Amino acid sequence: SFNPSSFINEISPQLIEKVGNSKVLIAVSGGVDSTTAAALAYRVLGERVIPVMIDTGFLRENEANSVREMTRKVIPNLVVEDKSEEFLSALEGVEDAEEKRKKFRDIFYNTISSLARKYGTTMMMQGTIAADWVETQGGIKTQHNVLVQLGINTESQWGFTVIEPLADLYKNEVRELARFLGLPPAISERQPFPGPGLLIRTVGKVTREKLLVERQANSIVERRLEGKGFSQYFAVTFDSDCEEDLEKSKEVGSKVKIYKSRATGVKGDVRSYGHIASVESPISVRETVMKLSRYDITHVMSIVSNKDKGKYAVAIRAVLTEDFMTADVPSISAEELKTIANEIMENPLVKEVLFDITSKPPATIELE
Ligand code: XMP
Repeated sequence: SFNPSSFINEISPQLIEKVGNSKVLIAVSGGVDSTTAAALAYRVLGERVIPVMIDTGFLRENEANSVREMTRKVIPNLVVEDKSEEFLSALEGVEDAEEKRKKFRDIFYNTISSLARKYGTTMMMQGTIAADWVETQGGIKTQHNVLVQLGINTESQWGFTVIEPLADLYKNEVRELARFLGLPPAISERQPFPGPGLLIRTVGKVTREKLLVERQANSIVERRLEGKGFSQYFAVTFDSDCEEDLEKSKEVGSKVKIYKSRATGVKGDVRSYGHIASVESPISVRETVMKLSRYDITHVMSIVSNKDKGKYAVAIRAVLTEDFMTADVPSISAEELKTIANEIMENPLVKEVLFDITSKPPATIELE
């Protein structure tokens, strides 16, 4: 089994040798992996590490401040660089999920590149773990932090080399390491949060308005579902434009609506990009999802609450998983979902609240 202390003993001389007397920039997203990598690096390399949290504009409510607060002891020199305007203006209007991911990645590493110059280093460290590159190599999605494993030459493209001390670890091992390094439970037990953040939860065309709705809804879902033992729980926001599909309604025995918005799924071992569907009251979740996923549909949702006015649909997403390669949807009582929905619906821009009932496969955990 994994032993954090021997892992540190093993990795320390490697890090010291790679970094030498230079400095190394590390991008901290506030997620478990990058924060743990930064705490590890600080412990081994001290002030030669420059931990930077980039505010991409797609962070959660108050995230930069709270991460700085929570890591004060083990990463005392964390700086926050506000690049939200650069990211937002470049990504506004982009609609396709993969295009968003690729654009985000480019802006992200251009930003790292200029920060590296600013802080006088040609080395960067990141918290990539095993699962990240396995799925990207599999072609399911372009995970923002997977470069080396795809054969991307970061040195010629951005002028820095990459160090990934956690590349062979799995999530539970990273959590153990985090505890060992003295990170608080709010970090070590934190649910995963993707590098591109709320960008990939603001489904379809990115607008500042949609992002604000998403950020607020996500806070509500996180607050309401915290501590219930789910592996991941969050909100996603998309345009509520949809059409009723009579044939499919007949097939599943309940009103089916197909949204213009698209989301990602996995078919066999490859990524698929299909539509979102909602079912008024699915009789059997398993069967409904199975039937609809035979069509061009990747995420099936049940309706929790709706009204006539508004322009966005917000979906509550919760999953249970061991390895994030497959995931189940836990059952949450109708009453609890309704309470969450009522709070989200207080925003007049929200037309309906849905509950994503699709496991992985055929869906992915995130929608993009
Ligand atoms: P999917 O949606 O592919 O997600 O089922 C599996 C796990 O990966 C996380 N995820 C990401 N993490 N950068 C990250 O650091 C990314 O680009 C990214 N995309 C997905 C997701 O939150 C889930 O835990």
